[in-house]
Amino acid sequence: MSVTIPEAPPVRSARRKLATGTNPFVPAPARIMRVRELTTEIRLYDLRFTDSTLADSFNFRPGQFVELSVLGVGEGPFSLPSSPTRRGVFQLGIRRTGSLTNYLFDHITEGDEVGIRGPLGNGFPVEMFEGQDVLLVAGGLGMVPLRGLLQYLIDQRDRFGKVMLLYGTRSPEQVLFREELESLSRRGDAQILLSVDGTQGKPWTGRVGVVTELLDLVELDVSRTYAVACGPPVFYKFMLEKLVERGFGRHRIYLSLERRMECGVGKCGHCAVGYTFTCLHGPVFSYWDAINLPELIYT
Ligand SMILES: Cc1cc2nc3c(=O)[nH]c(=O)nc-3n(C[C@H](O)[C@H](O)[C@H](O)COP(=O)(O)OP(=O)(O)OC[C@H]3O[C@@H](n4cnc5c(N)ncnc54)[C@H](O)[C@@H]3O)c2cc1C
Ligand code: FES
Repeated sequence: MSVTIPEAPPVRSARRKLATGTNPFVPAPARIMRVRELTTEIRLYDLRFTDSTLADSFNFRPGQFVELSVLGVGEGPFSLPSSPTRRGVFQLGIRRTGSLTNYLFDHITEGDEVGIRGPLGNGFPVEMFEGQDVLLVAGGLGMVPLRGLLQYLIDQRDRFGKVMLLYGTRSPEQVLFREELESLSRRGDAQILLSVDGTQGKPWTGRVGVVTELLDLVELDVSRTYAVACGPPVFYKFMLEKLVERGFGRHRIYLSLERRMECGVGKCGHCAVGYTFTCLHGPVFSYWDAINLPELIYT
Protein backbone atom coordinates (compact mmCIF):
# COMPACT_ATOMS: atom_id res chain seq x y z
CA MET A 1 0.00 0.00 0.00
CA SER A 2 1.28 3.47 -0.83
CA VAL A 3 -0.18 6.83 0.16
CA THR A 4 0.45 10.39 -0.90
CA ILE A 5 1.05 12.46 2.20
CA PRO A 6 0.47 16.21 2.31
CA GLU A 7 3.43 18.54 1.80
CA ALA A 8 5.04 19.82 4.98
CA PRO A 9 2.87 22.80 6.00
CA PRO A 10 4.26 26.33 5.43
CA VAL A 11 5.75 27.65 8.65
CA ARG A 12 5.00 31.34 8.10
CA SER A 13 1.30 31.01 7.55
CA ALA A 14 -0.19 31.06 11.04
CA ARG A 15 -3.71 31.35 9.66
CA ARG A 16 -3.38 28.37 7.39
CA LYS A 17 -6.46 26.36 6.58
CA LEU A 18 -6.55 23.01 8.38
CA ALA A 19 -8.10 19.75 7.19
CA THR A 20 -10.62 20.18 10.02
CA GLY A 21 -11.82 23.60 8.72
CA THR A 22 -10.97 26.92 7.13
CA ASN A 23 -10.97 28.57 10.57
CA PRO A 24 -7.99 26.91 12.32
CA PHE A 25 -9.45 27.66 15.76
CA VAL A 26 -12.71 25.79 15.21
CA PRO A 27 -12.60 22.06 16.02
CA ALA A 28 -14.40 19.40 14.00
CA PRO A 29 -16.47 16.86 15.95
CA ALA A 30 -15.04 13.35 16.16
CA ARG A 31 -16.59 10.29 17.76
CA ILE A 32 -14.67 7.96 20.06
CA MET A 33 -15.08 4.52 18.50
CA ARG A 34 -13.00 2.48 20.91
CA VAL A 35 -10.94 2.92 24.07
CA ARG A 36 -8.23 0.50 25.20
CA GLU A 37 -5.90 0.52 28.21
CA LEU A 38 -2.25 0.51 27.13
CA THR A 39 -1.08 0.84 30.75
CA THR A 40 -2.92 1.88 33.90
CA GLU A 41 -2.15 5.53 33.05
CA ILE A 42 -2.23 5.52 29.22
CA ARG A 43 -5.17 4.82 26.94
CA LEU A 44 -5.43 4.34 23.19
CA TYR A 45 -8.43 6.11 21.64
CA ASP A 46 -9.77 5.24 18.16
CA LEU A 47 -11.56 8.28 16.69
CA ARG A 48 -13.56 8.98 13.55
CA PHE A 49 -14.76 12.39 12.35
CA THR A 50 -18.56 12.57 12.33
CA ASP A 51 -18.40 14.18 8.86
CA SER A 52 -17.78 11.09 6.73
CA THR A 53 -16.06 13.05 3.93
CA LEU A 54 -13.56 14.46 6.43
CA ALA A 55 -13.21 11.03 8.08
CA ASP A 56 -12.20 9.40 4.81
CA SER A 57 -10.01 12.25 3.53
CA PHE A 58 -8.19 13.14 6.79
CA ASN A 59 -4.52 12.96 5.86
CA PHE A 60 -1.41 13.87 7.80
CA ARG A 61 2.32 13.31 8.04
CA PRO A 62 3.68 10.91 10.65
CA GLY A 63 4.93 13.09 13.53
CA GLN A 64 2.17 15.70 13.26
CA PHE A 65 -0.28 16.23 16.13
CA VAL A 66 -3.84 17.41 16.75
CA GLU A 67 -5.51 19.57 19.38
CA LEU A 68 -8.24 17.62 21.20
CA SER A 69 -10.92 19.60 23.03
CA VAL A 70 -13.79 18.86 25.36
CA LEU A 71 -16.36 21.66 25.52
CA GLY A 72 -16.22 23.47 28.85
CA VAL A 73 -13.14 21.53 29.99
CA GLY A 74 -10.19 22.45 27.79
CA GLU A 75 -7.94 21.59 24.89
CA GLY A 76 -4.54 19.92 24.57
CA PRO A 77 -2.05 18.78 21.90
CA PHE A 78 -1.65 15.04 21.27
CA SER A 79 0.55 13.17 18.77
CA LEU A 80 -0.93 10.77 16.25
CA PRO A 81 0.23 7.19 16.95
CA SER A 82 -1.57 5.88 13.86
CA SER A 83 -0.44 6.18 10.25
CA PRO A 84 -2.05 8.06 7.33
CA THR A 85 -1.84 4.76 5.42
CA ARG A 86 -4.83 3.62 7.53
CA ARG A 87 -7.76 5.88 6.69
CA GLY A 88 -11.17 6.37 8.29
CA VAL A 89 -10.14 6.03 11.90
CA PHE A 90 -7.18 7.74 13.58
CA GLN A 91 -5.76 7.11 17.04
CA LEU A 92 -4.49 9.06 20.04
CA GLY A 93 -2.47 7.61 22.93
CA ILE A 94 -3.22 9.70 26.01
CA ARG A 95 -1.63 9.72 29.47
CA ARG A 96 -3.60 10.84 32.51
CA THR A 97 -1.87 14.07 33.50
CA GLY A 98 -4.16 16.87 34.70
CA SER A 99 -7.55 18.52 34.25
CA LEU A 100 -8.30 17.68 30.57
CA THR A 101 -6.92 14.17 30.58
CA ASN A 102 -8.52 13.34 33.96
CA TYR A 103 -11.86 14.41 32.53
CA LEU A 104 -11.28 12.27 29.42
CA PHE A 105 -10.43 9.22 31.51
CA ASP A 106 -13.27 9.68 34.01
CA HIS A 107 -16.17 11.00 31.90
CA ILE A 108 -15.61 10.39 28.18
CA THR A 109 -16.26 6.96 26.76
CA GLU A 110 -16.98 5.07 23.55
CA GLY A 111 -19.69 6.82 21.50
CA ASP A 112 -18.96 10.29 22.96
CA GLU A 113 -17.83 13.21 20.80
CA VAL A 114 -14.77 15.43 21.23
CA GLY A 115 -13.39 18.31 19.12
CA ILE A 116 -10.31 17.91 16.93
CA ARG A 117 -8.21 20.59 15.17
CA GLY A 118 -5.44 19.60 12.83
CA PRO A 119 -3.25 18.13 11.65
CA LEU A 120 -0.70 20.53 13.18
CA GLY A 121 3.08 20.87 13.16
CA ASN A 122 5.58 19.75 10.52
CA GLY A 123 5.93 15.94 10.88
CA PHE A 124 8.90 13.72 10.00
CA PRO A 125 10.70 14.26 6.64
CA VAL A 126 9.60 10.82 5.39
CA GLU A 127 10.46 11.60 1.76
CA MET A 128 14.14 11.72 2.81
CA PHE A 129 13.84 8.29 4.44
CA GLU A 130 12.87 6.58 1.15
CA GLY A 131 15.44 3.98 0.08
CA GLN A 132 17.32 4.51 3.37
CA ASP A 133 17.52 2.54 6.62
CA VAL A 134 15.56 4.05 9.50
CA LEU A 135 16.46 3.65 13.17
CA LEU A 136 13.69 4.61 15.60
CA VAL A 137 14.72 5.21 19.21
CA ALA A 138 11.99 5.70 21.80
CA GLY A 139 11.87 6.28 25.53
CA GLY A 140 8.61 5.94 27.50
CA LEU A 141 5.67 7.87 26.00
CA GLY A 142 7.95 8.81 23.07
CA MET A 143 6.74 5.54 21.52
CA VAL A 144 3.40 7.24 20.77
CA PRO A 145 4.52 9.48 17.84
CA LEU A 146 7.07 6.86 16.73
CA ARG A 147 4.38 4.17 16.49
CA GLY A 148 2.68 6.27 13.76
CA LEU A 149 5.99 6.48 11.87
CA LEU A 150 6.65 2.75 12.39
CA GLN A 151 3.24 1.83 10.95
CA TYR A 152 3.88 4.16 8.01
CA LEU A 153 7.23 2.48 7.22
CA ILE A 154 5.85 -1.05 7.64
CA ASP A 155 2.75 -0.39 5.52
CA GLN A 156 5.04 0.65 2.62
CA ARG A 157 7.84 -1.77 3.42
CA ASP A 158 9.37 -1.86 -0.09
CA ARG A 159 9.98 1.92 -0.11
CA PHE A 160 12.45 1.79 2.80
CA GLY A 161 15.58 -0.15 3.74
CA LYS A 162 16.10 -1.74 7.15
CA VAL A 163 13.70 -0.61 9.87
CA MET A 164 14.98 -0.85 13.45
CA LEU A 165 13.34 0.13 16.72
CA LEU A 166 15.10 0.49 20.07
CA TYR A 167 12.61 1.17 22.83
CA GLY A 168 13.12 1.52 26.56
CA THR A 169 10.70 1.89 29.45
CA ARG A 170 10.94 1.76 33.25
CA SER A 171 9.28 -1.69 33.61
CA PRO A 172 7.67 -4.41 31.44
CA GLU A 173 4.17 -3.08 32.27
CA GLN A 174 5.09 0.30 30.75
CA VAL A 175 5.90 -1.12 27.28
CA LEU A 176 3.33 0.33 24.89
CA PHE A 177 2.03 -1.78 21.95
CA ARG A 178 4.04 -4.78 23.24
CA GLU A 179 2.11 -7.54 21.42
CA GLU A 180 2.13 -5.59 18.18
CA LEU A 181 5.88 -4.96 18.39
CA GLU A 182 6.60 -8.61 19.19
CA SER A 183 4.52 -9.68 16.21
CA LEU A 184 6.35 -7.27 13.85
CA SER A 185 9.64 -8.61 15.13
CA ARG A 186 8.56 -12.26 14.62
CA ARG A 187 7.47 -11.46 11.04
CA GLY A 188 10.89 -9.95 10.33
CA ASP A 189 9.41 -6.63 9.16
CA ALA A 190 11.59 -4.74 11.60
CA GLN A 191 14.41 -5.43 14.03
CA ILE A 192 12.97 -4.56 17.44
CA LEU A 193 14.95 -4.46 20.67
CA LEU A 194 13.27 -3.66 23.97
CA SER A 195 14.80 -2.81 27.32
CA VAL A 196 13.48 -2.01 30.78
CA ASP A 197 15.22 -0.31 33.69
CA GLY A 198 14.06 -3.16 35.98
CA THR A 199 11.68 -6.13 35.68
CA GLN A 200 9.96 -5.56 39.05
CA GLY A 201 9.41 -9.32 39.21
CA LYS A 202 7.38 -9.40 35.96
CA PRO A 203 8.10 -11.89 33.12
CA TRP A 204 10.51 -10.33 30.63
CA THR A 205 12.63 -11.69 27.78
CA GLY A 206 14.12 -8.37 26.59
CA ARG A 207 17.17 -6.57 27.97
CA VAL A 208 17.45 -5.02 31.40
CA GLY A 209 19.36 -1.74 31.38
CA VAL A 210 19.17 1.74 29.95
CA VAL A 211 17.89 2.15 26.40
CA THR A 212 21.17 3.72 25.17
CA GLU A 213 22.86 0.32 25.64
CA LEU A 214 20.65 -1.15 22.90
CA LEU A 215 22.47 1.02 20.40
CA ASP A 216 25.57 -1.20 20.81
CA LEU A 217 23.55 -4.25 19.69
CA VAL A 218 22.48 -3.14 16.20
CA GLU A 219 24.49 -3.23 13.00
CA LEU A 220 24.32 0.17 11.33
CA ASP A 221 25.54 1.68 8.10
CA VAL A 222 25.37 5.30 9.25
CA SER A 223 25.99 6.59 5.72
CA ARG A 224 22.53 5.30 4.70
CA THR A 225 20.58 5.48 7.96
CA TYR A 226 18.35 8.18 9.47
CA ALA A 227 17.81 8.11 13.23
CA VAL A 228 14.55 9.36 14.74
CA ALA A 229 14.42 9.80 18.52
CA CYS A 230 11.55 10.61 20.85
CA GLY A 231 11.50 10.55 24.63
CA PRO A 232 11.80 12.63 27.80
CA PRO A 233 14.60 15.23 28.28
CA VAL A 234 16.87 12.81 30.19
CA PHE A 235 16.60 10.34 27.29
CA TYR A 236 17.75 12.99 24.80
CA LYS A 237 20.60 14.01 27.07
CA PHE A 238 22.27 10.60 26.70
CA MET A 239 20.82 9.23 23.45
CA LEU A 240 21.66 12.06 21.07
CA GLU A 241 25.37 12.14 21.87
CA LYS A 242 25.49 8.33 21.80
CA LEU A 243 24.07 8.43 18.26
CA VAL A 244 26.79 10.92 17.28
CA GLU A 245 29.41 8.60 18.88
CA ARG A 246 28.08 5.77 16.68
CA GLY A 247 28.92 7.95 13.68
CA PHE A 248 25.60 9.59 12.81
CA GLY A 249 25.84 13.05 11.26
CA ARG A 250 23.70 15.49 13.25
CA HIS A 251 21.73 16.22 10.07
CA ARG A 252 20.72 12.53 9.99
CA ILE A 253 19.17 12.62 13.48
CA TYR A 254 15.59 13.86 13.96
CA LEU A 255 13.74 14.35 17.22
CA SER A 256 10.20 15.17 18.19
CA LEU A 257 9.88 17.66 21.04
CA GLU A 258 7.00 18.55 23.33
CA ARG A 259 6.60 22.10 24.61
CA ARG A 260 3.68 23.73 26.36
CA MET A 261 1.28 24.67 23.53
CA GLU A 262 -2.03 26.45 23.34
CA CYS A 263 -3.17 27.54 19.86
CA GLY A 264 -1.00 25.14 17.83
CA VAL A 265 -1.02 27.54 14.86
CA GLY A 266 1.66 30.12 15.67
CA LYS A 267 -0.56 32.78 17.23
CA CYS A 268 -0.31 32.70 21.03
CA GLY A 269 3.47 32.43 21.48
CA HIS A 270 3.26 29.81 24.28
CA CYS A 271 5.57 27.41 22.44
CA ALA A 272 8.14 30.01 21.32
CA VAL A 273 11.87 29.46 21.84
CA GLY A 274 13.50 32.62 20.52
CA TYR A 275 12.00 33.11 17.06
CA THR A 276 11.13 29.42 16.74
CA PHE A 277 7.53 28.41 17.26
CA THR A 278 7.58 24.70 18.07
CA CYS A 279 3.97 24.30 16.95
CA LEU A 280 4.85 25.54 13.44
CA HIS A 281 8.56 24.81 12.92
CA GLY A 282 8.28 21.60 14.98
CA PRO A 283 7.58 19.44 16.86
CA VAL A 284 10.11 17.61 14.65
CA PHE A 285 13.62 19.12 14.48
CA SER A 286 16.94 17.86 13.20
CA TYR A 287 19.64 17.57 15.86
CA TRP A 288 21.44 20.42 14.03
CA ASP A 289 18.44 22.71 14.62
CA ALA A 290 18.17 21.58 18.22
CA ILE A 291 21.79 22.25 19.18
CA ASN A 292 21.48 25.79 17.84
CA LEU A 293 18.54 26.25 20.23
CA PRO A 294 19.62 24.14 23.24
CA GLU A 295 16.68 25.24 25.39
CA LEU A 296 14.44 23.43 22.88
CA ILE A 297 15.44 20.06 24.32
CA TYR A 298 16.29 20.50 27.95
CA THR A 299 13.74 22.99 29.35
C1 LIG B 1 3.29 18.33 20.32
C2 LIG B 1 2.80 17.63 21.57
C3 LIG B 1 2.41 16.30 21.49
C4 LIG B 1 1.93 15.65 22.64
N1 LIG B 1 1.55 14.35 22.51
C5 LIG B 1 1.06 13.71 23.58
C6 LIG B 1 0.59 12.37 23.46
O1 LIG B 1 0.64 11.76 22.38
N2 LIG B 1 0.07 11.77 24.56
C7 LIG B 1 -0.01 12.43 25.78
O2 LIG B 1 -0.50 11.84 26.75
N3 LIG B 1 0.43 13.69 25.92
C8 LIG B 1 0.94 14.35 24.85
N4 LIG B 1 1.36 15.65 24.99
C9 LIG B 1 1.26 16.29 26.30
C10 LIG B 1 -0.22 16.70 26.51
O3 LIG B 1 -0.54 17.74 25.61
C11 LIG B 1 -0.44 17.18 27.93
O4 LIG B 1 -0.16 16.12 28.82
C12 LIG B 1 -1.91 17.55 28.15
O5 LIG B 1 -2.23 18.67 27.36
C13 LIG B 1 -2.12 17.87 29.62
O6 LIG B 1 -3.39 18.39 29.76
P1 LIG B 1 -4.14 18.31 31.16
O7 LIG B 1 -5.18 19.40 31.16
O8 LIG B 1 -4.60 16.93 31.40
O9 LIG B 1 -3.01 18.64 32.20
P2 LIG B 1 -2.73 20.04 32.93
O10 LIG B 1 -3.73 20.19 34.03
O11 LIG B 1 -2.61 21.12 31.90
O12 LIG B 1 -1.28 19.79 33.50
C14 LIG B 1 -0.97 18.85 34.53
C15 LIG B 1 0.52 18.81 34.72
O13 LIG B 1 1.20 18.37 33.51
C16 LIG B 1 2.14 19.33 33.07
N5 LIG B 1 2.08 19.39 31.60
C17 LIG B 1 1.02 19.69 30.85
N6 LIG B 1 1.34 19.69 29.54
C18 LIG B 1 2.64 19.38 29.47
C19 LIG B 1 3.59 19.25 28.41
N7 LIG B 1 3.28 19.43 27.13
N8 LIG B 1 4.85 18.92 28.74
C20 LIG B 1 5.22 18.75 30.01
N9 LIG B 1 4.38 18.86 31.06
C21 LIG B 1 3.12 19.18 30.80
C22 LIG B 1 1.71 20.64 33.72
O14 LIG B 1 2.81 21.51 33.91
C23 LIG B 1 1.14 20.18 35.04
O15 LIG B 1 2.17 19.96 35.98
C24 LIG B 1 1.86 16.33 23.88
C25 LIG B 1 2.26 17.66 23.94
C26 LIG B 1 2.73 18.31 22.81
C27 LIG B 1 3.15 19.73 22.89
S1 FES C 1 1.15 27.07 20.55
FE1 FES C 1 0.48 29.09 20.11
S2 FES C 1 2.16 29.85 18.98
FE2 FES C 1 2.68 27.78 19.22
